[in-house]
Amino acid sequence: MPATIKLDATQSGDLEKAASLLLAGHLVAIPTETVYGLAADASNDQAVRKVFEAKQRPVGHPLIVHVASPDRISLWVDQIPDTARQLIQAFWPGPLTLLLPKKNGVSDFITGGNPGVAVRMPAHPATLATMQRLGRELVAPSANPYGRISPTTAEHVLEGLSGKIEAVLDGGDCSVGIESTIIDLTGDTPVIARPGQIAQSDIEACLGITLAPGRSASQAVPGSVKRHYQPVTPTVGVATDRFAGLLPEVTPAGEKIGVIWWQSAPGELASESIMLSADPNEYARMLYTAMHAMDKANVDRIVIELPPRESQWLAVHDRLGRACTEQFA
Ligand code: TXA
Ligand code: MG
Repeated sequence: MPATIKLDATQSGDLEKAASLLLAGHLVAIPTETVYGLAADASNDQAVRKVFEAKQRPVGHPLIVHVASPDRISLWVDQIPDTARQLIQAFWPGPLTLLLPKKNGVSDFITGGNPGVAVRMPAHPATLATMQRLGRELVAPSANPYGRISPTTAEHVLEGLSGKIEAVLDGGDCSVGIESTIIDLTGDTPVIARPGQIAQSDIEACLGITLAPGRSASQAVPGSVKRHYQPVTPTVGVATDRFAGLLPEVTPAGEKIGVIWWQSAPGELASESIMLSADPNEYARMLYTAMHAMDKANVDRIVIELPPRESQWLAVHDRLGRACTEQFA
């Protein structure tokens, strides 16, 4: 395959180009508000198959169908319960994926053979405009090689998938920075299958009900395997109150460490450091970008200062739990 081309999301000619590549069955990485997605025409099985090859993702891990408008889900979903309508009204376009009973004939490549199909309307204008031109839905897993950190810039996409996909549509930095919340609406009661920026409390307020605690990440959805979203460099998490004491201990003599912190400045113990934020949404927005940067910084080990164990940090802790080989909580 020729080198991956970079398209500019502010140029309508480039959106046209992205749409025509997708229509021809090629792979194009697209910006969303959460992370970049690796898009393929959802109605083209051959194109969908290429997604698994490019990412080295095991077949059987299902893919989210991205729609340009809520009414399009009726092509994919069998019944649309009232809960889904309420959530769509409140949160779309936005970082919420709904798992709903699939329509007969939806490809097993997309659902991994599950009775449910995941649908989401992303909030990036260039991606919505591309899909409108295309007039079809797109499957789009995060645009990273399997097991690696999701991309939040077009550069991250190229670092992982250059030469394996036709194009990346550069739409700038992702504003949410972690993957969408997934809510499973296929059972008797809604269940959060993957935490994200839209929290359980937001969903409860919208639906006027109390949800049972989410399933543990390992049970939830097939892509939620424990080892996932990892930097190449060994990465450990350390709680704030143990940070000053533990930082020298977790660092074997002579190792260069890169510290990602939000409260406890590491001083000269770190050869590289990146400060995040005390605000959960800001922290999430910056997290993957910081991990990508540290992974390239030639350090022997990455140490991440863990945020507080509070409910508003749930999605961040979920991602850190996968990124870290070890945590000192
Ligand atoms: O924010 C996001 O959701 C991003 C952007 C690109 O939209 N996409 C994303 O896709 O994170 P991916 O494939 O990396 O993660 C989707 C998760 C996987 O864990 C997958 O197993 C689950 O959603 N999923 C998708 N379809 C499903 C289905 N039919 N049944 C059960 N789980 C499903
Ligand atoms: Mg992913």
